[in-house]
Amino acid sequence: MIDLNDRVAIVTGAGRGIGKETATLLAEQGADVVVTDVIPEIEDVGEAVEERGANALVHELDVTDYERAQDVVEDTLEEFGRIDILVNNAGIFPTATLEEMSPEDWQQVIDINLTGVFNCTKAVLPAMEDQGYGRIVNISSASGGHVGWSGDLSHYAASKGGVVGFTRSAAIDLGPKGITMNAIVPGMVDTGAAEEVSEEEEIEAAVAMTPVGRQGDPEELASSIVYLASEPAAFITGASLVVDGGLTLV
Ligand SMILES: NC(=O)c1ccc[n+]([C@@H]2O[C@H](COP(=O)([O-])OP(=O)(O)OC[C@H]3O[C@@H](n4cnc5c(N)ncnc54)[C@H](O)[C@@H]3O)[C@@H](O)[C@H]2O)c1
Repeated sequence: MIDLNDRVAIVTGAGRGIGKETATLLAEQGADVVVTDVIPEIEDVGEAVEERGANALVHELDVTDYERAQDVVEDTLEEFGRIDILVNNAGIFPTATLEEMSPEDWQQVIDINLTGVFNCTKAVLPAMEDQGYGRIVNISSASGGHVGWSGDLSHYAASKGGVVGFTRSAAIDLGPKGITMNAIVPGMVDTGAAEEVSEEEEIEAAVAMTPVGRQGDPEELASSIVYLASEPAAFITGASLVVDGGLTLV
């Protein structure tokens, strides 16, 4: 049984998709949730958190903005007094072959998907160290080292592989401080985001490669994230939990 009563969580990219489901599931389990994103839908997600009986704080946060992340943490501490959980979920996945990819395209993906994880982690660490307790969950991707997936995602693959490397090394640093850090490695998840950048045939091909024969539901990702964010997951750190319907097995 996961009990997150009296816990406080920050979720990035919580306006839709996996982040939204994670924010609401954290609330269902009792946590107060700081809902952050760059889209206005965070207001609705904040309401959904409160409908589950938890407190919500809604903040615009672009994860590439190091100072803004610090401000959000400051507000969180003023409102709730502690930070137990950080879910580094915000991410983009634009497609471009290497020929098409400009240095700006490359940099934007690295800035959001990888540097964003660093920025938000740095922001929460002082509070977690003071508490001697923290759970950080970073969202990687199967394309970050487990499967090649597609030839037009090399910037994305580099960023998500970077998330796994960051997670493994930082977990060694953080373990003695009572803080765990783990990565979730999703396969294809039905959030609509992949459809925005991929052809229907590409999605169908990825589903055909997935032994369970379908995309994952965002709720199925959220439940794994919430487990790693819970107290009973104390002995798991530096791990990559693959949640992919078997995609990376074949
Ligand atoms: N959907 C999939 O198939 C899949 C597969 C593997 C990994 N992932 C990863 O899971 C995470 C969530 O994906 P999703 O499918 O829910 O995508 P999504 O597009 O539905 O949600 C991502 C959220 O991140 C936010 N975001 C974008 N740039 C931001 C920024 N600079 N600062 C803060 N927030 C920002 C977006 O506004 C959006 O709400 C991402 O990191 C993604 O790379 C998704």
